[in-house]
Amino acid sequence: MAEGAPVVLSVGGSVLLTGENDAEFLRALADLLRRLGREFPLVVTTGGGRTAREYIALARSLGLTEVELDELGIDVTRLHARLLGGLVGGASAAPPPTTVAAAVRELGHVSPVILGGTEPGHTTDGVAALIAARVRAVRLVNATRVDGLYDRDPRRHPDARRIDRMGWDAFRRVVRESVGEGSAGQEFLFDALGAEALGRAAIPLLVVHGRRLANLEAALRGAIFDGSRIG
Ligand code: UTP
Repeated sequence: MAEGAPVVLSVGGSVLLTGENDAEFLRALADLLRRLGREFPLVVTTGGGRTAREYIALARSLGLTEVELDELGIDVTRLHARLLGGLVGGASAAPPPTTVAAAVRELGHVSPVILGGTEPGHTTDGVAALIAARVRAVRLVNATRVDGLYDRDPRRHPDARRIDRMGWDAFRRVVRESVGEGSAGQEFLFDALGAEALGRAAIPLLVVHGRRLANLEAALRGAIFDGSRIG
């Protein structure tokens, strides 16, 4: 069984499915996670991305409640966990755990443990943060579709600046300011609950581009990487 300090990875749904070379990327990501999962205890959460947002938008227009919309989103994140888990194979292909406690228990005999969301009201980044705090992870790596934390959305603002280092207090402030009303499917900079949990536990959060696998591996290993570091 993998030994040493646990590491947690949160992969955005928008990294998993982009419409470009998805099969090839998923295979390479699964190979990386299988390999690293043997070296140290690893937990991976998978986001729902565009698919979750499409279901949530449709269901919202049909009048489903916010909790029901969150539950739809959770099911899509679990779909992605099953997809990645099946590719990694072995014990990682078992049905994804549905609670933080179950994921922590599984880490005793499975690595990587791959799961989606747990309960309504937060995101898979939040789930990753709660697990990281619970297992005393050495770091949480957030694999996103941009190469770090920016002062503004870099896809909308070409002059956005990357912030390579930020302390927890400043980050929590930025996260709080970026949080809207917290409705289902809303895109956050990072889950507010998750930011609180990580800050309290003083677990560093590393933000990297999820499709650059050599760099993602460096971040997961705690080596020098290109991206942002909070804490
Ligand atoms: P995601 O974790 O994918 O959120 O969950 P996201 O911010 O859209 O992340 P990306 O785009 O994949 O990076 C999708 C939706 O599922 C519900 C929420 O409505 C969330 O917006 N969800 C997810 C929960 O309610 N609880 C969870 O634990 C996870």
